[in-house]
Amino acid sequence: MSSLASPFPQEQEFLAAFVQAIETQSFDRLILSQYKGELQDLEKMTWRVIHLQGEQVLQCLYRYKTQDVTKNYPLAQAETVVGVMLLASKQANLFSMTEELQLKKNKKKAMLTRSKTKTEVKKPLEQGHDRIKQRYVDQDASFLQHLGVTDAKAQVIPSMARKWKQINKFVEIFSGALSQIQADDHALRVVDFGSGKGYLTCALYDYMQKHGQTPNVTGVELNPKMVEFCQNVADQSGFNQLKFFQGDVRTYEPERLDVMIALHACDVATDFAIHTGIRLNAQMIMCAPCCHKELRPQLQAPKVLAPMLQFGIHAGQQAEMLTDTIRALLLKAYGYETKVFEFVALEHTSKNKMILATKRKNVTEPDPEVMEQIQALKEMYGIQKHSLELLLKGEWDQQDIGCKC
Ligand SMILES: C[S@@+](CC[C@H](N)C(=O)[O-])C[C@H]1O[C@@H](n2cnc3c(N)ncnc32)[C@H](O)[C@@H]1O
Repeated sequence: MSSLASPFPQEQEFLAAFVQAIETQSFDRLILSQYKGELQDLEKMTWRVIHLQGEQVLQCLYRYKTQDVTKNYPLAQAETVVGVMLLASKQANLFSMTEELQLKKNKKKAMLTRSKTKTEVKKPLEQGHDRIKQRYVDQDASFLQHLGVTDAKAQVIPSMARKWKQINKFVEIFSGALSQIQADDHALRVVDFGSGKGYLTCALYDYMQKHGQTPNVTGVELNPKMVEFCQNVADQSGFNQLKFFQGDVRTYEPERLDVMIALHACDVATDFAIHTGIRLNAQMIMCAPCCHKELRPQLQAPKVLAPMLQFGIHAGQQAEMLTDTIRALLLKAYGYETKVFEFVALEHTSKNKMILATKRKNVTEPDPEVMEQIQALKEMYGIQKHSLELLLKGEWDQQDIGCKC
């Protein structure tokens, strides 16, 4: 029996169940919420076991108000690190292959409920294999072979190692955000704007399907060859509700949208995609912007920043930061909780920023305080035009957004 400085036997029992699930390899995930400890703005923790460089480690995704932080711990420390955070959390949910436990507590009492696992939990990956195992995407999945990420023996093709890492990171972030949004009883309607070769579109379809969802996913892509390729991959993989549509993000108008994805959609294609998400009241908006071209020619250096922005590279970085800050603030103004963070570490790709927004409230008018902040930033840098702002105001002026990136 594990020992914990808790007045509640139920809490001891919960921690013991966690340790047992780890030891018997039946552990799926642990969620600690309503954290009341010393870490400021920490809202929730999601713990999983992942394989890293051939070893199993306990990974925690710490969800703060404005950012997510991931940390890995040796499995030998699992009981200690989880024990400390459990004491400081008012609710804990443990999911194993066989049962689900929920612990709720206040100052006076604790309540523990146990039930049989409802959703199918995949068997944990066996140790000792000679390939690196990833937690979020099953390396044996056939779509990976059809896409050329893995070979016939389900080994990652060396030149695709970075893409493989990016796919997993993306699904990890997606799964965290998915658990935050309100799932209606209908099939989740997802659109991936600028879906390219469909790596991420297929991965999130596969993930949702394996986690009890009935997803309805559309990839929108300009390039007809890519659309044809991706539709073949989807059909071969048995992804019946995954469709690829040849068209322009600027003119694609879905009827309903729960999750908006736009990863590396060129330049203002990202703004169109975000606008569609906001307009259709999407619960989740996830984008990794790319090739920011719109603000750079408009950028005027405020006097004090002129020595810094005289260097072209700095002016480019500033324009990029300003573009994405205005996007994030607009999302906030329209009722979204918005985070901006690193998507995949710099050594893997230079397109490494993610804006993740989850709907928190319905708004009839954008928050005036946030709109003032945007206006002040625009004035400071002499910005006349930001596509997302114009689209939201209904003042967009058509222009070419062709991109060769
Ligand atoms: C850099 S790729 C990203 C692909 C994919 N989202 C990913 O992250 O792997 C950008 C894709 O967006 C497509 N694209 C760019 N502008 C578009 C537009 N206006 N409408 C539809 N697709 C567009 C391009 O053809 C390209 O395939």
